[in-house]
This record gives sequence, structure tokens and C-alpha cells, in this order.
Amino acid sequence: MKSRPGWAALYAFEVDRAADAPVFRQVYLQLRSAILSGALRPATKLPSTRELATQLGISRSAAVAAFEQLLAEGYAFGKKGAGTFVASDLPEPFDAMRGRKKRPASVPKPIASSRELGDFVDVTAQSDERPFNLGRTLIDARTAELWRKLNARTLRSFGGHHLGYGDPQGMIELRRSVCDYLRAARAVRCEPEQVLITAGTQQVIDIVARVMQGPDKEVWVEDPGYPLTRLALVAAGATVCPVPVDRHGINVTEGIRRAPKARAVFVTPSHQFPTGVVLSMARRLELLAWARESGAWIVEDDYASEFRYGGRPLASLQGLDEAERVIYIGTLNKALFPGLRLGYAVLPPPLVRTFVTARYLMDRQPSTLCQAVVAAFMEEGHFASHIRRMRDKYRNQRDALVAALRRRLGDHLTVDPPDQGMHLVAYTRRGISDVGIERAAREHEIVVRAMSRLHIEAPRQSGLMLGFSGYPHQSIAPAITRLARAFGR
Ligand SMILES: Cc1ncc(COP(=O)(O)O)c(C=O)c1O
Repeated sequence: MKSRPGWAALYAFEVDRAADAPVFRQVYLQLRSAILSGALRPATKLPSTRELATQLGISRSAAVAAFEQLLAEGYAFGKKGAGTFVASDLPEPFDAMRGRKKRPASVPKPIASSRELGDFVDVTAQSDERPFNLGRTLIDARTAELWRKLNARTLRSFGGHHLGYGDPQGMIELRRSVCDYLRAARAVRCEPEQVLITAGTQQVIDIVARVMQGPDKEVWVEDPGYPLTRLALVAAGATVCPVPVDRHGINVTEGIRRAPKARAVFVTPSHQFPTGVVLSMARRLELLAWARESGAWIVEDDYASEFRYGGRPLASLQGLDEAERVIYIGTLNKALFPGLRLGYAVLPPPLVRTFVTARYLMDRQPSTLCQAVVAAFMEEGHFASHIRRMRDKYRNQRDALVAALRRRLGDHLTVDPPDQGMHLVAYTRRGISDVGIERAAREHEIVVRAMSRLHIEAPRQSGLMLGFSGYPHQSIAPAITRLARAFGR
């Protein structure tokens, strides 16, 4: 077995000189219990007797006696010239004890939504690059190379400003670049003082849920909608009111009828998740008017708006807002890659202080090193060219996927090519169950997401959500052959 690093050197051994037990026995017992509890795992290197004696201020002979007993009883073994290590096959009775300890006496009750969340995480399995996984991105060789260079350059200037606590609102250089981008590309009205750098969309949803005042935190969500928004709100104790989505986007009149006093509404206006519908101008104005009159907040999740392939782009809802009711959210986890965990919110000025404080209390600030790399990437123009290149790539992937689906499965599916984003919806025909295909597809090593699962109260539409941004072009044809098998073809 490979030896493990010397965590034992950090273990908080203690010696009580006033105790009746001799010092060597106290040390022996502490080591033994650390081994049995798993705090020191098999193959962990133990400190030398000399180090242990110095650390505890005891005699070397007491440390040697403690080790000898551990060795004699089989809790540790010595390797010539290398030191003493925790044994991997522990003495019988104690191994059994450890097994018992691992099983908790009572299992904590899961939150109501944990099953749904489990399904979502399991189905999308966002960490692997199986076609047609959702939410993944591609990074080409040029961006990969630049990323390495900018990281190396940032590390070369590694110094005081990276080592201490930073601004909880985010680095000013990055906030400036985000503003430049949003003003130009999304007609967002913003100043760097309004921008909060976050870990991504998920963190902003959590902050909004935490800062909403009052016992009855009623909020509107889209139905069907993004499950992680709804689940995060439920987990934060909000009362979620599903509002149906039609071909013009969220039905504002229906929302007002169902919950006129809601505190907030969470929407994806530029590319509704999952349907891809664009919120019409009439509905945008209706939503803004309701928010202005009722004092509600509109949380605009503008995810994946960087990747627009055609059609008439509508600028952000925030850009139309005269009454400062819109909290605009964007994510760099889609524009670049999900492992980055960086995003931003543009806040109405009266909310900035509260949001920055809430973020500070959650996790203080974003990582200084990551922010510096992304700020340089944006400032030096690489972000704009990365987006342009990826837009072309994703457009090609979308077109190839649409063509392959129509060719192989046109009689089972109606494909709706989206003008934006990183996934498409293929509606099933002739009563074919999307959930059944989702299950069968998994057996063929591909991931499709059943859209019907994302409905709350609205009548379920059966469709498959297929990502086209997270795997190479050459995977499309063989993956469509496997999908056809999932349909029994
Ligand atoms: C609707 C929607 N918003 C936002 C995100 C991005 O979330 P995050 O920035 O937390 O990675 C996703 C990712 O799948 C999404 O589908």
C-alpha cells in the first residue's frame, strides 16, 4: 500500500502530567484511539519518536515505549529506513468496533426535495462528458493555452494582494470588465459599484432567499423551470408558487392571480429553461409594471446568453427597468467552464450593501487568484474572442445534432432548434414517454433529460433535453445511433 502523507504530525496529542497513568501509556492510548477512529488511516506515516518527544516535551524513552506497544499489538508496523506506519489489517476486535461506529444510530431525515435533487444530479451527471449531457462546455486549445499562461503569470506576481482577505464584493478589475461586457453585449445598465462577483447563479439564488424579509417568503418560479432554482428556494424556506410558461414566456397575469403579493420572481427571459422560449416584450413590460407596483424583485437569470446563434436577440430585462426592481444574474461557469465557479449579479443600488454582507457571511469572498486570472482574460480581449469561437463551434454542433436527430429519429421526435444556449428540446411523438427513453438511454451510455420531470403543476410535455456543448463533434453520430437503440430501433 502507498504510504500516506504525515498527517499524524498535525494530530493534537496531549500529555497530562498530573494524571495517574504513566506518560508512555497516555501517548499509546491516544495513538491507538486515533488509529481505531480512522483519524489516522492505514499506511499513514507516524512521527518519529524523536519528533513526538520534542512535540510533547516528554522523554524519548517514553515515546519509544508507546511505539513498542503499538507495534507489538499490531496497530503499526516499521519499515526499515522509512519510519513507522499505521497498519492496514488492524487487530480483530477493534476492526469490528470501527465498523460498528461507522453506522450512525439514526439516519438524519432528508429534506423534502432531496429525492428530486438526487434524481437531477444523477441524471445530468454533469461531471462526465457523455453525450448529450447538459451544462458542460468545450474549451479549445487556444483558450486552454491562454488559461495556463495567465495562471502562470498570476502566480509569478503572487504576493500580498493575493494572500490576505479581499473585497467581498469581488475584485474591482473584474467588476469593471463584467460591466464593460454587459453594457456592450446585453444592454445592462450597470456600474462596477453595483456588481457582486459570486460563485455562480446558485449562490445568488441562495442570497436572494436569505435576504428576503418576513415569515411568508412567497416567490414565483417558472413552470416548467430550472429545478435548482426551485429546490434552493424550497431549502431556504420560501413558499414557491409555480407560474405556467407558454409560448410567450411566463404568464404574468396568471402569476398575479395566484400570488399577487409575492416577494420575488425568478425568470430566464432570454432563453427560458427548459423550453427555450423568449419572454415577449409585452410580458416583459407587464412583469416590470407588476414588480414596480407591488415592490417585488425580479431575478433575471440570463444564463448562456453569450451563445446566441440567430433570431432577434432581446436585450436584458434589466436594461428596460426604470424602477430598479431587477437583480440581473450571469454566470461565467457557462461562458467558460462549470468548474470555475464564478459568476456575477448586477444589483439595484439599494440592495448592494445587504447582498455584499450576506455574501461575506456565507464565504467571505471569491478566490483572489481565480478572479485575477479571469479579469486578465477579459481585459485583454480573450473573453470576447473565446465567446465568438465557441459560438461558432456550438452552432455547428447544434446543427449537426438537429440534422442527425431528424434523419434517424424524425418519426419519433419533433426537434426544436434553439436560437440560444447549449441544449435543445426534442418533443416525443405518439405518446412515447420521455422518462422511459431517459432510462433506456442511460443503459446505452448516453444522457438525455426528460423534460416532463421539470413540470410542477403545469400539464407535462414529454420531451428530451439534449446538450450539444459538452462533447466533441465526432461523438454526435455514434451517440445518435445509441439513442436510436434506446427507442428500440
Ligand atoms: C437556468 C440555469 N441558470 C444558471 C445555470 C448556471 O448555474 P451556475 O452558475 O451555478 O453553474 C444553469 C446551469 O445549468 C442553468 O441551467
